[in-house]
Amino acid sequence: MISVVVIGAGNVGSHLVKAFQSAENINLVQWYSRDKKSIEAPTKEIELCHDLNNLKSADVYIIAVSDKAIEALSKQLPFKNRLVVHTSGSEALKKLDMKHKRGVFYPLQTFSKTSELDFSQVPFCIETMDKLDSDRLKALATYMGSPSYMINTEQRQALHLSAVFINNFTNQLYRIAHELTDYKSVNFDVLKPLILETAKKVQLTSPYNAQTGPAKRNDQVTINHHLRTLETHPDYQALYKQLTNSIKTTHGLKKL
Ligand SMILES: NC(=O)c1ccc[n+]([C@@H]2O[C@H](COP(=O)([O-])OP(=O)(O)OC[C@H]3O[C@@H](n4cnc5c(N)ncnc54)[C@H](OP(=O)(O)O)[C@@H]3O)[C@@H](O)[C@H]2O)c1
Repeated sequence: MISVVVIGAGNVGSHLVKAFQSAENINLVQWYSRDKKSIEAPTKEIELCHDLNNLKSADVYIIAVSDKAIEALSKQLPFKNRLVVHTSGSEALKKLDMKHKRGVFYPLQTFSKTSELDFSQVPFCIETMDKLDSDRLKALATYMGSPSYMINTEQRQALHLSAVFINNFTNQLYRIAHELTDYKSVNFDVLKPLILETAKKVQLTSPYNAQTGPAKRNDQVTINHHLRTLETHPDYQALYKQLTNSIKTTHGLKKL
């Protein structure tokens, strides 16, 4: 049995609490949020805490707060020599105060309070200073049904940067596509099978091999047509040119 305290009631904190509640072998001791209102629908079985001085003893303290608050919050914790981890993809392990046994428990997934999440699809990137602590975090991930990997700060930051390309930038491209289809009164649903197939394809082949389309085919007629269509959206036209050139460079073709 591993006992945990979750600090933070945002997207990640809320999902972790839900997963810990339903996991065998994990004892959720407390859930801390600085503001009572941050926890929308507290369940009776969870002990809530709004004062760091009232935190109880636990095997692991998980700081799931905004990146910029991690350092100061770890200093404010009124104890030392306990395992304290953060969940950030970009912050160094050393951002945590030296008085703690420090670690990172970064869930590489996109979290929103409003979406359901299957923790078997949430890989945890673990970093610690001590082998016993990494064993404990690995066990914690296993009890949640999640895979885990030992990943150092530099590797985690590279993964986080890749995740921005894969998730945030792709999602912004979906948004642009949504706007373009709305403009011509086409339902965005028509594109949804393509979205799924694009994600499915790279499970079986490399992104390099999966690429198709006018840039990869060097189809200048279609590219020119698209660029003309985007003349009323100069930002999107510039983005189209940049991505087309990126694909052409990757596949050894002359840029626009
Ligand atoms: N969202 C994701 O997809 C995702 C994925 C992987 C990792 N992460 C990482 O997980 C961490 C939490 O992200 P999130 O998406 O859950 O953030 P979030 O939804 O914006 O929630 C941030 C939480 O931090 C609390 N907070 C901010 N400053 C604080 C302070 N000074 N003292 C105490 N609490 C404070 C906020 O409290 P209030 O409600 O009172 O403002 C809120 O509960 C971040 O390190 C993030 O990089 C996020």
